Amino acid sequence: MSLDASTLGLYAGAALAGAAGLRSVGGLAKIITRERGAAVSTQLHRDTFTDQLEAALTWARASHSALKAWVGTRPFRVSAVVEETAADRSYYLIPEDGRPLPAFAPGQYLTFHLPTTAGQAPVVRCYSLSERPRDDYYRVTVRRVAAPVDRPDLPPGRASGFFHHEVHAGSRLQVEAPQGAFFLDPTDDAPVVLIGAGIGVTPVFSMAAHLAHTRDRRPAYFFAAFRNGREHPFRTRLRELPWRAPNLNLHVSYSRPLAADRRGRDFDSLGRIDLPRLQQVLPSNNFRFYLCGPGPLMESLVPALLAWGVPAEHIHYEAFGPASVRGLSGEGAEPCDVQFARSDRTVRWDGAAGSLLEMATQAGVRLESGCRAGSCGQCRLGVLAGRVQHAKQPGVELLENECLACIAQPRGDVTLDA
Ligand SMILES: Cc1cc2nc3c(=O)[nH]c(=O)nc-3n(C[C@H](O)[C@H](O)[C@H](O)COP(=O)(O)OP(=O)(O)OC[C@H]3O[C@@H](n4cnc5c(N)ncnc54)[C@H](O)[C@@H]3O)c2cc1C
Ligand code: FES
Repeated sequence: MSLDASTLGLYAGAALAGAAGLRSVGGLAKIITRERGAAVSTQLHRDTFTDQLEAALTWARASHSALKAWVGTRPFRVSAVVEETAADRSYYLIPEDGRPLPAFAPGQYLTFHLPTTAGQAPVVRCYSLSERPRDDYYRVTVRRVAAPVDRPDLPPGRASGFFHHEVHAGSRLQVEAPQGAFFLDPTDDAPVVLIGAGIGVTPVFSMAAHLAHTRDRRPAYFFAAFRNGREHPFRTRLRELPWRAPNLNLHVSYSRPLAADRRGRDFDSLGRIDLPRLQQVLPSNNFRFYLCGPGPLMESLVPALLAWGVPAEHIHYEAFGPASVRGLSGEGAEPCDVQFARSDRTVRWDGAAGSLLEMATQAGVRLESGCRAGSCGQCRLGVLAGRVQHAKQPGVELLENECLACIAQPRGDVTLDA
């Protein structure tokens, strides 16, 4: 990765200023100050200094999205499309302007503004960066989403269908800068457990690929779960990871193997990832856990890890849609009034809708939305009076009086700027 000295200085200043008040800035500043003296003596030290500044910048950007690498969208060209499985395709992206590709923290995602029929707003969707940070391309891997099994009459997924049918090598896509609060913390080298199920493997694969590329020596366990060998993306790359990171242990499970799938060759265990499986493989609970997968996995595994004694701050997870945002069930909600000021509507909240976005939709109040998982920022709303609570950490930076309606629930009577 390359940064010239002036850019580096600017970035480092911005990174540190922007991250003021957030964790570890003091520690990072000390590292940078200490390394500044050493950097002048040898090229080796200079490189180390650059690496640490880049880590500081990446961390600061990741922790504070006001430091996003660019504002709004930027045009990218698709340089290649690779079929990972029958339903999963990887898209390699290079910036059309040819300018340097900013680093991201493994686990973060890109937000795409995809064209729809003329005159209509773009479809906004997030896709995790599925490769380690590199300076030559970004990569996302998109699974084609069919209509629900019990509603075959519904149209299939819009964005994933667009990717699979309309996006080819040479296509131009409008992309927001990498962001997201789910990332491998570059300032923390504690042992990690990475858990990815189905297409939820993408962000944790990026983390594992980063550990392998940097030949990281911390103890790391990667649990990857798929239905069977036909739905197993990155198969070869996954098997290669432990060759590079000496302490990275890979464990693949299949829930419904095909006749051709062989235990020991294609997968290590039968069934889903649950706490007993983790306890069988892990030497202790003393890890940082990073999880991404379908709703039922998150709903069962997060409470199980907490019950096993893993502190909540050591459990990080990503939600790909409303089904995998924990805490939107509305259970035990205190009834209250939600006023949509500009629409002149007041609706009684009883928790059944799950989120303010869903409640607004049911009440006929039109709000913008994209990911419905607290990641794209499309449903950002001003809170004019009262208090709301988010079911998960927003993936985008918000002002003090703003909320993301798709993951927000009222805490008492509230007035919204909608
Ligand atoms: C942070 C983040 C990272 C992500 N990373 C990835 C990734 O790496 N790879 C990946 O593949 N995905 C990822 N996703 C998910 C992705 O953003 C999309 O949500 C996914 O591709 C589905 O979008 P879609 O537009 O294709 O489907 P949508 O059009 O949103 O449809 C979703 C489902 O709803 C059904 N449907 C259509 N109409 C109706 C209706 N009227 N009523 C009820 N149901 C209906 C559709 O048939 C489909 O089954 C990520 C999401 C987030 C938030
Ligand atoms: S719809 Fe994407 S953050 Fe709410």
